[in-house]
Amino acid sequence: MDSRLRGNDECGVAVTIENQDALSEIASAATLAELEAIRVRMLGKSGTITALLKTLGGMTPEQRQAEGPKIHALREAVTQAIADRKATLEGAALEARLATEKLDMSLPVSVGMQGSVHPVAQVMDELAEIFADLGFAVATGPEIEDDWHNFTALNIPETHPARAMHDTFYFPDAEDGRKMLLRTHTSPVQIRTMMTEKPPIRIIAPGRTYRSDSDATHTPMFHQVEGLVIDRGIHMGHLKWTLETFVKAFFERDDIVLRLRPSFFPFTEPSAEVDVGFTWEKGRRVIGGDPTAANGGWMEILGSGMVHSRVIANCGLDPDEWQGFAFGCGIDRLAMLKYGMDDLRAFFDGDLRWLKHYGFAALDVPTLSGGVGA
Ligand code: DAH
Repeated sequence: MDSRLRGNDECGVAVTIENQDALSEIASAATLAELEAIRVRMLGKSGTITALLKTLGGMTPEQRQAEGPKIHALREAVTQAIADRKATLEGAALEARLATEKLDMSLPVSVGMQGSVHPVAQVMDELAEIFADLGFAVATGPEIEDDWHNFTALNIPETHPARAMHDTFYFPDAEDGRKMLLRTHTSPVQIRTMMTEKPPIRIIAPGRTYRSDSDATHTPMFHQVEGLVIDRGIHMGHLKWTLETFVKAFFERDDIVLRLRPSFFPFTEPSAEVDVGFTWEKGRRVIGGDPTAANGGWMEILGSGMVHSRVIANCGLDPDEWQGFAFGCGIDRLAMLKYGMDDLRAFFDGDLRWLKHYGFAALDVPTLSGGVGA
């Protein structure tokens, strides 16, 4: 390569660059900042080499053929030299840092602000794990529902008193005439699942539910989990075993007894409310132990039953072929019983002190597969 390149830039100013000068200047740049200044001066928008490149436009084809490769070669050589010098300077800077910095592995770590897993989320995870072991999938549905999925399909016709019992939040009607509402329970997910999936079905559906209600044990938004099994030949025995297995796994005790009390839900027949045995231990009601003992008693924890044949038919399935059971349970209450909170409203206040006290470490959540509390 010629050691000297000459060209005329657009303004007709002669541009001359000594190759060796350029390269040795780059090689002797002492700092990254100095190197960057050189780069801008040579390759920047109004840099010398950029100007040289621009002169190509004003040359005759013959000139361009002769000068073009030289100018491009110069640009490449300079670009490469800058990259090389940069790597050398950066390497030296790193070496210098490594030589002076010390890392004391014995110093305490500053953890900073850490979030925590809300007890409701924690319980939902536990439910998903317990039921996954029993072959249940997790299903979801919309929180803004229509009254057909929330009531009618569940065998709660318009005139049914159960509609009035659910203090429902209604929206203006949808354009297609559907009555829209905030779902009052997770049961509509049963309907949606039966309508979209082929049996056998085994799902739980945890999620938010809404009713116009507020005191120490009721909040306008709360959480439920729905369970649904649809298969051939399902009976109450399956229901009882499933609930017993679930409750024992959830409360981590084997000495838990359940009592199924005849009840009524429009979407199940027969229906049963499920009580769980508890005992007073150190001033606290603890799930488990002998409910007939002097310190014992029964507490209602969920509603359940065999899915009403009309509900199965409403979803397009043949009730003579398919049977099943369902249950519905308040998640917040499960959390309160297991982890010992007594005011439901605090769950949704967003008070960081409460969350810090009752929350779970995000990366250290006890899981059943890993052993609860392991
Ligand atoms: N949906 C009922 C409620 O919100 C709870 C319930 C009871 C759900 C019985 C069920 C069931 O699936 O079988 O109070």
